[in-house]
Amino acid sequence: MLEGKEIILGVTGGIAAYKAAEIVRLLIKKGANVSVVMTANAQKFVHPQTFQTLSRNRVATEMFPEQAEMEENHIAWGVKANLALVAPATANIIGKYANGIADDFLSTFLLATRAPIIIAPAMNHNMYLHPVVQANIEKLKERGVYFVEPETGELAMEGEHGTGRLADPQTIVEEAEKLLSRRGDMAGKKVLVTAGPTLEPIDAVRHISNRSSGKMGFAVARAAAERGAAVTLISGPTWLKPPPGTEFIPVTTALEMRERVLENFDSADILVKSAAVVDFRPRQKTNKKIKKEKADLTVELERNPDILAEVGARKGSCILVGFAAETSDLTEYGKKKLKEKNLDLIVVNDISNSDIGFGSDDNMVMLMDREGGVEELPKMSKNNLADHILDRVMKL
Ligand code: PMT
Repeated sequence: MLEGKEIILGVTGGIAAYKAAEIVRLLIKKGANVSVVMTANAQKFVHPQTFQTLSRNRVATEMFPEQAEMEENHIAWGVKANLALVAPATANIIGKYANGIADDFLSTFLLATRAPIIIAPAMNHNMYLHPVVQANIEKLKERGVYFVEPETGELAMEGEHGTGRLADPQTIVEEAEKLLSRRGDMAGKKVLVTAGPTLEPIDAVRHISNRSSGKMGFAVARAAAERGAAVTLISGPTWLKPPPGTEFIPVTTALEMRERVLENFDSADILVKSAAVVDFRPRQKTNKKIKKEKADLTVELERNPDILAEVGARKGSCILVGFAAETSDLTEYGKKKLKEKNLDLIVVNDISNSDIGFGSDDNMVMLMDREGGVEELPKMSKNNLADHILDRVMKL
């Protein structure tokens, strides 16, 4: 999968810089052509000659070298790259990239390239867990940058233990392979994704809703678009920005979501329904604010339509992927919903755990398909999970 691919490896200044040599070796073994960019600090840990010898290519170390050898500048490298990998990535390069700072070869190259980017952070655990670093990582993830999470274990400082060790070079190279093999594999497919909560108004200011942030559905939409699919994302109210390259249809209520899903369903090859549709809506609502002195405190509810069950009944050749938000008996309820809604695949998540499910960046799910296949996945970012779900859909 890496045969003939142009990979730019950015190496930044941390003790794990020496492990980048192994990454170069593994990439080359798989047939890639690797060009290395080193920051000034990286050169304090490893000499550029190491990478030049291993990659058999010139190593970029400066933005403005004296010789004319830099005809191939950061822009040209940006164009030729099929993949950019930054490993190890310090808090500094993550911060610069997240905030658009371009003051050396690597940071300018990262802004200049349109190739997919994988970042493998490595740093002291206090730095890695610092809210500023986490916010920068989050920002980049939202923009579609891939991360290979650091490992937990002994760190460089004697006696220090925590999360911040560079992921294993083998794992980083496998992630690079996976990413490139997924590029374009959904070209020609039309994917419809629903995300977020619905919001069912009671009056002009009050409503019934739930805690869905939309992160799961937006991650699926982003991943499908990056893999070449034509994506329509129908979402209830969230703070998230629609992923680039998707058609975005904002909705508020379950009834609106149903209408938009039915309008778009017939032309879809795949429907992924991760929205947390509110099951009940107030029977009566008013556009005025109900005065608290006057309010009859009973809000009578009526059932919303089950959108997924409705499209399941007329699914045709469309691959239907549903989610199940459960707090107990995951397997039993997952199976039941898979069958009742006539789905091809169901993603079952335990929403009683606040580290996963509603609102969090991570999720831990069980995938169940209509042939009886069950796969329990470990906890992972919603971005990674989105690709796992789509891999499974492509096999179906
Ligand atoms: O948005 P996040 O903060 O990232 O959180 C992600 C999530 C927890 C919302 C997501 O992972 C998830 O579980 N989504 C489904 C939530 C849900 O409504 O589950 P359910 O078990 O009630 O519904 C089962 C399926 O039927 C879902 O695919 C749902 O979209 C669909 N449904 C439900 C009710 C209804 N009236 N119409 C529907 O189409």
